[in-house]
Amino acid sequence: MPEVREAILVRPSGPLTGTVPISGAKNSVLKVMAATLLAPGTYTIRNVPRIEDVAIMAELLEAMGVTVAHVGDVLTVDVGESVIPEAPYELVEKMRASVVVLGPLLARFGEARVALPGGDDFGSRPIDIHLRALADLGAHIETKRGFVIARAEQLLGARIILDFPSVTATENVLMAASLAKGTTVIDNAAREPEVADLAAFLNRMGAHILGAGTSTITVEGVNELGAVDHTIIPDRVEAATFLAAVGVAGGEITLAGARPDHMDMLCLKLGEMGMRISPTNDGLWAMVNRRLSSVDVSTLPYPGIATDYKPLLVALLSVADGVGIVTENLFSGRFRYVDELVRMGADIRTEGHHAVVRGVAQLSGAPVKAPDIRAGAALVIASLRAEGETLVTNIHHIDRGYENFVGKLQAIGADVQRVQI
Ligand code: EPU
Repeated sequence: MPEVREAILVRPSGPLTGTVPISGAKNSVLKVMAATLLAPGTYTIRNVPRIEDVAIMAELLEAMGVTVAHVGDVLTVDVGESVIPEAPYELVEKMRASVVVLGPLLARFGEARVALPGGDDFGSRPIDIHLRALADLGAHIETKRGFVIARAEQLLGARIILDFPSVTATENVLMAASLAKGTTVIDNAAREPEVADLAAFLNRMGAHILGAGTSTITVEGVNELGAVDHTIIPDRVEAATFLAAVGVAGGEITLAGARPDHMDMLCLKLGEMGMRISPTNDGLWAMVNRRLSSVDVSTLPYPGIATDYKPLLVALLSVADGVGIVTENLFSGRFRYVDELVRMGADIRTEGHHAVVRGVAQLSGAPVKAPDIRAGAALVIASLRAEGETLVTNIHHIDRGYENFVGKLQAIGADVQRVQI
């Protein structure tokens, strides 16, 4: 029987109105799940989105002998005394974030084998910063037959200076250093809210971490950690996606549960473009009643404009009034979706890590392919201002990071539906 595939069919929409509930942050829950490997017991993790990446991380934990159950938005993780300290290639290949099991496995079991991730649609994505930092903690690291094999009888606290404030490298070190002997100081640490959420989870488990959310983090190693209950922070990239939707289609929406304090720079940028945004008791309100104006955008580590927001901003700029220059400073290959937008009539020229986006009044519907999670969502959002019908295929990418994306868009009046192809 031929495999049934799904796509998202979009027709011109707007103005959008209503409330969108924002789910838990993908890039927080995946690390919190990995951190459960640090201690045996039963963990309760709340506000967990029903997305494919959570299912893949659950599969990875299960392959190690851990039991995972996802009921509603609550994830129960049962970690035993013994765990198989290995992340196989089939799973690492599906999701690069699997590399965050390296730190906890090494710290608790003295050994970790993690398949080396390959390249992906963002271009080359090495893990040298992770490995150097773990070596600084005393780990012996070798790569053999496509695996990183890390060993250390006892990790020792150290001063670590990261070459770049890598999110997952900072997280690997936080988890490893929590069970190391002595004090670790991480300089040039990533400051993303998801890193701070992981540190809050680890502290609840009994770790001693100070300064998470700033670029210097101090971890005093402890002998033992324990299972706990934790609620995941809201997903700022999902919130940004719906802000982009109202930016493209116009209207007035409320994002229930969003944290405006995690999105300051983005809100400033969108305000500059002409979007009205204000915090509410429990989230964020946004209104757009005219065509937005173009601005220049440059991605940076937090608190700068996140690289994950960029495809959404490019979608917005492609229908804004004027010309915007977009500069990508994190991932060299992260402009591949631009070709798809151009197929929809966008006027975008890329040169190295810059894109010049000249806004057009309207795009035109075409069949397009989602190249990754965020760019996939951005194509759906851009289609809200495309004349005719747009069919976005390869939507398994979108399902990796967005819970009920189509349902949430429909609830604010967008003309989108999942169809079989
Ligand atoms: N880098 C290295 N060596 C390393 C690690 C990173 O050179 O060992 C470079 C990367 O190549 C890149 C830069 O450092 O140029 C930043 O990468 P970082 O390590 O911070 O990214 P990451 O931790 O792999 C996380 C998110 C991404 C998000 C980036 C940047 C998770 C699971 N992923 O990736 O999110 O784009 O930080 O903020 O947390 C997504 O959610 O769709 C996504 C891709």
